Amino acid sequence: MTPAQTQTRKVMLSAVQPSNHLTIGNYLGAIKNWVKLQHDYECLFFAVDLHTITVRQDPKEMRDQTYRAIATYIAAGLDPKDVTLFVQSHVPAHAELAWVLNCFTYIGELSRMTQFKDKSAAKGGGEGQNISAGLFTYPVLMASDILLYQTDLVPVGEDQKQHLELTRDVAIRMNNIYGKDTFKVPEPYIAQVAARIASLQNPDQKMSKSDPDPNASIFLTDSDDVIRKKLKRAITDSGSEITYDAEAKPGVSNLLTIQSAITGKSMSELVNSYAGKQYGHLKVETGEIVVEAIAPIRNKTELLLKDLGYLNSILKDGAEKARARAHTTLKRVYERVGFIGLDQL
Ligand code: TYM
Repeated sequence: MTPAQTQTRKVMLSAVQPSNHLTIGNYLGAIKNWVKLQHDYECLFFAVDLHTITVRQDPKEMRDQTYRAIATYIAAGLDPKDVTLFVQSHVPAHAELAWVLNCFTYIGELSRMTQFKDKSAAKGGGEGQNISAGLFTYPVLMASDILLYQTDLVPVGEDQKQHLELTRDVAIRMNNIYGKDTFKVPEPYIAQVAARIASLQNPDQKMSKSDPDPNASIFLTDSDDVIRKKLKRAITDSGSEITYDAEAKPGVSNLLTIQSAITGKSMSELVNSYAGKQYGHLKVETGEIVVEAIAPIRNKTELLLKDLGYLNSILKDGAEKARARAHTTLKRVYERVGFIGLDQL
């Protein structure tokens, strides 16, 4: 990296919730793009543990998943020497800016968030099942994550687009009050092919880490045999012709999408290659393609997890770099809203 490149690079940032093992939806919809774009941008990638406790978590399990998320980022191809990798709770400015942004975000806006509506509808009440205020204000913390670093580009899957729009609205609102250079207004970068990988068991829904049916998702921890089995059991559609039609053939289209996202082949090329073949062929071949893509990431993740010393050194370094950057924005915002700076006393 030349000094000139370092100076001119725009900022790219994204994150994943360490709420369970990551899925191929997370990989193809988000992480694969991070890897692809990492050297063109000044990058920050992190695990959002603060977001994760918006629904009840087992503490030990969450710590393990947080390490696993960071190890997966590296195993998938992020270069820890060039990108900043960290854990959200290691940078207190995320929570601090979120409070300020909470005061500039409206209840009406948060009530319209489909992720909140879906997640709160999925909860049935009872012990630990109440809908927390954190789940409601979740998008504000996400806006804080993004705006703290004067981010230009946020590569995410389709499901996060609405949160990005809210982030932009809040940034523009505050810029209008406190000056245009308060926040950079970020752009989303949505994967072209894999914006929404669907559940293997209910292809009208997105594949989700928290789906209670383990056959619905391919986890990045799944063994080769489990991957093959899950794809063999994937729900396909009526008829027998292999064509891409997200409305009429969501199951078949999802398998084609997964193949296209991994191999880079166009949809028409793939569909042509399946002329005269049956759904069974598509399932078996998708299984092999997914195994080939996932096995090296899984194996490298396991190796990295055996060396916590290495991961800890990356996280310490990342937290330090992120803290320094975040402080600049937080200080500017605190001054502009009218707080007395401790360094001015
Ligand atoms: P999370 O943890 O739900 O998902 C992580 C990333 O994976 C993408 N994704 C998918 N893409 C395609 N198909 C799918 N089935 C699929 N499932 C998930 C998500 O769009 C996301 O890009 N709120 C975020 C985490 C977050 C964040 C941020 C992201 C917190 N702060 C700041 C970007 C910037 C979330 O819950 O992602």
